[in-house]
Amino acid sequence: MYSEKVMEHFKNPHNLGELEDANGVGEVGNAKCGDVMKMFLKIENNIIQDVKFKTFGCGAAIATSSMATDLIKGKSIDDALKVTNKAVVEALEGLPPVKVHCSVLAEQAIKAALADYYRRQGVDPEPIIGKMEEDCHHCEHGCCEV
Ligand code: FES
Repeated sequence: MYSEKVMEHFKNPHNLGELEDANGVGEVGNAKCGDVMKMFLKIENNIIQDVKFKTFGCGAAIATSSMATDLIKGKSIDDALKVTNKAVVEALEGLPPVKVHCSVLAEQAIKAALADYYRRQGVDPEPIIGKMEEDCHHCEHGCCEV
């Protein structure tokens, strides 16, 4: 069902944990499937110096969080904003169609953490990041098993 890359990241997630000195923290979740993803960013001079995540959820959600953190670490904020869920899925060599929605959480978690970073600087994040969805509407299938 899952590609080798997905299994690799699921079994041995990269950048797992919390960042004590994060200056951007975002949490996104879905009430229906119960999956929650929290992203911690340490940003200096517009560069994401460090990133960690905590995800309580399905295997695909964990693998996509891990890959998403790899894709944004060391990158500029602009580049991180270009990381879509599609890019994360491609980097993971695909996800089963029923699990593609899980990767949306990773994209949203990055955006939520960046929005928090801007808010802490006294900057309105909406013109930069766009409007955040309050809820993920993608998890209505009860498909939370690994
Ligand atoms: Fe909801 Fe994976 S994120 S089932």
